[in-house]
Order: sequence, then C-alpha cells, then structure tokens
Amino acid sequence: MNHVIVNCRVSKGIINKNIYGQFSEHLGRCVYEGLYVKDDDNIPNVNGIRKDVVDALKKIEVPVLRWPGGCFADTYHWKDGIGPKESRKTIVNTSWGGVTEDNSFGTHEFMELAEQLGCDAYFSGNVGSGTVQEMADWIEYCNMGGISPMADLRRKNGREKPWNVKFWGIGNEAWGCGGNMSADYYADEAKKYATYMRNYDKDFSICRIASGANNADYHWTKTVCEKAGRMIDAITLHHYTVTSDWDHKGKATDFSKSEYYSLLHNTFKMEELVSNHSSIIKQYETSDHKIGLIVDEWGTWFDVEDGTNPAFLFQQNTIRDAILAGINLNIFNNHCDTVVMTNIAQMINVLQAMILTDGDKMVLTPTYFVYYLYKKHMDAMHLESYVDSDRLNHDEEEVPRITVSASEKDGKLLITMVNLSADEDAETTVYLSGFNPSDAKASCVTGNISDHNTFTTPDKVGITNLDVVVDKYNKELKVRLPKSSVCAVEVY
Ligand code: AHR
Repeated sequence: MNHVIVNCRVSKGIINKNIYGQFSEHLGRCVYEGLYVKDDDNIPNVNGIRKDVVDALKKIEVPVLRWPGGCFADTYHWKDGIGPKESRKTIVNTSWGGVTEDNSFGTHEFMELAEQLGCDAYFSGNVGSGTVQEMADWIEYCNMGGISPMADLRRKNGREKPWNVKFWGIGNEAWGCGGNMSADYYADEAKKYATYMRNYDKDFSICRIASGANNADYHWTKTVCEKAGRMIDAITLHHYTVTSDWDHKGKATDFSKSEYYSLLHNTFKMEELVSNHSSIIKQYETSDHKIGLIVDEWGTWFDVEDGTNPAFLFQQNTIRDAILAGINLNIFNNHCDTVVMTNIAQMINVLQAMILTDGDKMVLTPTYFVYYLYKKHMDAMHLESYVDSDRLNHDEEEVPRITVSASEKDGKLLITMVNLSADEDAETTVYLSGFNPSDAKASCVTGNISDHNTFTTPDKVGITNLDVVVDKYNKELKVRLPKSSVCAVEVY
C-alpha cells in the first residue's frame, strides 16, 4: 500500500499559471505547417492560423507562448517580419537546416495566434546578432500607445492599439548559440539591454528575462544575478532529458524497459537544478525585488523519426513522455515559490510536442493529455504533499514509485500523481489533512510505456476515468493508480 499525504494547512503560495507555458520556434514544422498555413484553403484556418490546432490548444488553456526561438531568436531581425508580406525579405534559417524563411509569420501573425489562443506572448529578443536599438524598437512597436515612430509604424501595418507584450527575453542560450559569451560578458550585455527596455504605460510593466544557465552551470546564474540581478525580473534555465547521453538519445517509440527507467531517473535532475538555481537566485533578491526562475526549455529529446529531416527535431511521443511531463510539472508546482514560468519544448511537431500534424491531419500526444489533466493547478494555491512508499529499482537506476503535487482553488482540491512503475498498479490511500471531502472524481493517462497516437490510430492514448472511494469520516481517498499512469484526482 502507498500513502500520499496532502497537508491543506501548508502552502508555498500560488502556482503561477505560466508554469503551464509553451514554446514555439521557427524550427522544422512548428510554426510553418504546425501553427501557420498561410492561405492554404485545404486546411481550415483563421487568418492563416490552423483552426484544428487552435481549437485543441484552447482546451489546455495555454497561458503563455514563447517565440521566435530558441537559437533562431538570435538570428531574427523582427523588422523583416512586418509590413506587406510580398515585400518581406527572405533569410536563411541557419540554426535549423538552412531552409528559407520567408518571414510571412512575424510579429502581427504571432500576436494573432496569441489572441486566438487567449495567451500572453513571451518574445525572445536578439542579443547574439542584434542590437540594443532593435530590441528597444521592438518593445516600442508592441507596447507604445501614443504617438511615436514605432507606434506609428505599427498603425501603418494595421494595428491601432498596443499589444502590451509583457515577457521579453534578453537573448537565448547566450553561453551557446546565442553568442558563445562568458557569464561575465553576458551579464554586462544584459544590463545594457535592460537599461533600454522601457515601459510605455504607467500601469503596465514588462518582465525583463535574462538568458540563464545550461543545466548545472551555477557559476552562470551566480554571475548574472550578482552583476545584473537588480535590473532583471527573471532568469532562465534550460534542461532537456535524454536517455543516456547526447550521442545516444535513442528512439522515441522503440525503447527497452531499462531505457525507460534510465530516462525517468535522469529527469529527476530537474529537482536538483531547480533547487540549486533557486537558492542562488534568492541570495540576490531584496525585499522589494524578486527574481523569478523560468525554465523556458525542457522536455524529452530523442533521435528524429526515421525518414525525417534531422534538423527538424520531429519525434513521436509516448506514455513515457507523459510520465516525464507529469513528474516535471509536479516538481515545478512544488517549487512555485521560485519557478514563475516554464515552457515545454515545443508546442507542435518539434521535440516533446502537444500536437503532431501531417498535412491536414492532426493527433494529440500523451503529453497533451497531461496538460489537460493538470490545468486546474494554474493560479491555484499550492498545498504541501508527501509520498510514503518504496522506490523502484531497475538495473542500476532507482526512481520513486509515485510523485505528487496538490493545489486548492475555489474550495476544490486537485491532486496529481504519477505512477512510474511500468508493470504494477499502485493501491494508494490519500490522507487529507485540513480538508473535509464530500466527493471526488479521478481520471488518468495510462497505457503500456511505448503506447502512442498515430495518424491511423489517433485515439490509442487518451483520458480514462478512474474509480476513487471517498471516506468522509477519516478524510481519506482510496484510488488504484494504473501502471505507468499520470492521474488527477479532484476533491470537492
Ligand atoms: O528547442 C530546440 C533548441 O534547443 C533551441 O533552439 C535551443 O535554445 C536549444 O538548444
């Protein structure tokens, strides 16, 4: 028997809805084909944005979307992507396969997408090959309500009102594809950029986001916070999970049980990274200036699907990906005192996607369903939760049997639990301390670890209802978590 304890009297605060954010890059078929089909009449769209994709994404209530990269961001000059489409300049996407980028999807098209999704925009600015002036102009273009050169240009291009874009990244992976800078050099650059990243409305402040560490590069976080901390609102962290190492990423759908446990073992690195980077950041905060941690790239990274362009990073998505998403989202919820946003990479057709498309066809991935099950955590009050269970051992790897996070909103609890075992269901008793349950309902994403949806079998993986027994007297729930499952229990 496994025991989960939810303590409704202890909380780390509100789970920022932006923890459920997404990332969309000009990479492979993410933006073009996945999200944007121009005027392709064969694929229903609204102003070029795919209708089927937007309808599906609205159901998971995406709170914020990062764009245009990734590595692409530090080669992107935003003025190439505004004005009449026929006169927009083409460039070469040197980051991702050397394909021609015609700039038909630019600032206005992205904001149209954000408006259709009802989400906030997070723009990654170009520090690597751009200029401070370019970044300052982009913010003025998006956020200036009165008369100004950039606001007038925006109006000329058909948008009267400012969009008020809140989130602005000062480069991406400045230690790598964003300019190969040292931490010290980047910190000075970040200060310079932040100086000219202005607010244009007394009631609306932008969030200045410094490009942060690769994995466990704590020196990076320390240096940037020490030198530039007072001028930034958040700093990022990038951490992808691979099966063994970057030269042996393995297949997305064809893997052994050992590889399954190895990947899950590796993804717990996120717990350590978030804890350690958060402790460093906290040292540079003051009572009136907080610095948030934004994990703006995370997820699985496997070999691309056979026969696809290696530069397009197209991979399938199985129950294993769902388990990994559930584990990481539980980690982020439980660190909601410092983690203010995360952006899984990426929204569609790239890496650990929510949706895969093929022409006019679309499938929802197991990861999509995890976001569906977890969505009520957004802006809910976090609750402390603990697991009392044994650990799983497979070959050399040891992982917890169950992970959990919990929250409360409008008098209802949401408890999300992941059963990592590939073979065994987990009989679980959930003890509610400080809450009188009257009813509960539960559902999950489950299956064999390599189950996935394809264009011919799009409904193999979905959401299944689970039985849950409520013991009102003892304030307990009894639920059997299926093997390899991500489960959500709502308690009323
Ligand atoms: O998400 C794919 C790439 O991974 C991004 O462009 C880059 O920032 C990271 O290295």
